[in-house]
Amino acid sequence: LETQIEFNWMRGFTVDFNPETGMSKTAISTKRYLSDMEGMFADEKALKRAIENKNDLVYEFYNIGAPEKPCDLSFGTSVTYPGKVANEFFMTKGHFHTVLETAEVYYCLRGDGYILLENPEGDWSAQELAPSVSAYIPPRYAHRSINTGKVPLITFYAFRGDAGHDYSSIEKKGFQKLMVEKDGKAEIVDNPKWK
Ligand SMILES: [Fe+2]
Repeated sequence: LETQIEFNWMRGFTVDFNPETGMSKTAISTKRYLSDMEGMFADEKALKRAIENKNDLVYEFYNIGAPEKPCDLSFGTSVTYPGKVANEFFMTKGHFHTVLETAEVYYCLRGDGYILLENPEGDWSAQELAPSVSAYIPPRYAHRSINTGKVPLITFYAFRGDAGHDYSSIEKKGFQKLMVEKDGKAEIVDNPKWK
């Protein structure tokens, strides 16, 4: 696909998402490589080395162009690939919604991992994902997918069309907690850079 197909948001449409790969034949994904993730991982030297070495694709997701209106829904898949920077698992940048008081639903199609949640008051939790598990992201909570497994973590999401994405708060502050591998298992630790 060279250019995104225009979907008929007024009259209805269908769109395919492959549950094994998370990919669509009729939509174009947005890709985030390690080089797009500067400042996101705790070990900045390890990130720099990984970028110079191979610059892996960390995650991709679909934005299929939902009208930015409260009556519409944006939906699609998000695929976070397996991997680590030093001992920290591959993850999405994570975001608040620009309209803070809007929720989101995830449904896990494949893989193992977590959604890390955190609100502006500092309350946080890690919700575990596995195939067939659905997670609710309440209004006001920033969210980030983390792949702690060996295969792509694939989720299907839906949220209000006008919710928007606020990446800048997370870019500045990070999340309070990091998900790292320790003795072969996923462990939640404090983020030393969190302010
Ligand atoms: Fe979101």
